[in-house]
Amino acid sequence: MSRVYNFSAGPAVLPEEVLKSAAEEMLDYKGTGMSVMEMSHRSKAFEEIITSAEADLRELMNIPDNYKVLFLQGGASQQFAMIPMNLMKNKVADYIVTGQWAKKAASEAAKYGKVNKIASSEDKTFSYIPDCSDLPVSEDADYVYICENNTIYGTKFKELPNTKGKTLVADVSSCFLSEPVDVSKYGVIYGGVQKNIGPAGVVIVIIREDLITEDVLPGTPTMLTYKTHADAKSLYNTPPAYGIYICGKVFKWLKSMGGLETMKARNEKKAALLYDFLDQSKMFKGTVEPKDRSLMNVPFVTGNAELDAKFVKEAKAAGLENLKGHRSVGGMRASIYNAMPYEGVEALVAFMNKFEEENL
Ligand SMILES: Cc1ncc(COP(=O)(O)O)c(C=O)c1O
Repeated sequence: MSRVYNFSAGPAVLPEEVLKSAAEEMLDYKGTGMSVMEMSHRSKAFEEIITSAEADLRELMNIPDNYKVLFLQGGASQQFAMIPMNLMKNKVADYIVTGQWAKKAASEAAKYGKVNKIASSEDKTFSYIPDCSDLPVSEDADYVYICENNTIYGTKFKELPNTKGKTLVADVSSCFLSEPVDVSKYGVIYGGVQKNIGPAGVVIVIIREDLITEDVLPGTPTMLTYKTHADAKSLYNTPPAYGIYICGKVFKWLKSMGGLETMKARNEKKAALLYDFLDQSKMFKGTVEPKDRSLMNVPFVTGNAELDAKFVKEAKAAGLENLKGHRSVGGMRASIYNAMPYEGVEALVAFMNKFEEENL
């Protein structure tokens, strides 16, 4: 068996312990004689899986009792519609546009009501996070929306925006469980799990109870109504059962690692290794305003597209995979999620150093 260091932005690297444990349980989950893939979502065994996954997530994130945890489908993109359909009571929402994902979410919301883009960093190719301390938040806004970590551009909100009392909704797909968060500051926190938590097919929504109502926009499908899933404890219909099982294993792994404070320290150490290298390199350059740098996604360029392509190709041959930047920005991007070991970043930096010496 040979594993590579996988720097993919998502689906992405998962902890080896989790994959091995899932492999061991593949044919016979805890004496049931079947795989989790094969069992009823109404079975006792699965009930235990989903209940303990939720309990572990609540413990890891210190989720207050007045928030529901929903395990849903449709990816993060489906939330772009579910959020306005469920939350736009006044049909007005404010969006802070810091990248393609926030932009897509804003366009989707505009199908349902008035969207005000109250801040944007598009003027500089989304390479920074705008000052959000005193924005023109709309009087009648139902919520203020952010994408907290911008997977494509490698920026992260280090401070949450001042929403002036309005409900904050955040897409945390690419920074989920990478560091502690104060859940009580948000109305909704959601993310696709395929970056930091598990296999594609599950999206986790953490939502304050008062935002879960029957008063949704006319025509909202039953499946796209938060209340449907909250009332049924995420078992209204067949959930993405195997994915939830893997998420549960990742939550247990995170707990065994020491929880989110420990993950934050590990992630800071990994990111510093790479950013420090970029800051002294004569060939590679980070593309993001240093104060807004993400701990999870690190884009960089040489300034020469041919050299970038050569780098990506040779890195792959050296067992460092998926370093090509997003198709919309080019260059390189190293995604260094929770499950990427420090040694993976060390190997990347050593390779970059060698490449620089050989090609400068
Ligand atoms: C921050 C962010 N939001 C949303 C999405 C879209 O996720 P999905 O493919 O699950 O719809 C992505 C995907 O990469 C993302 O990085």
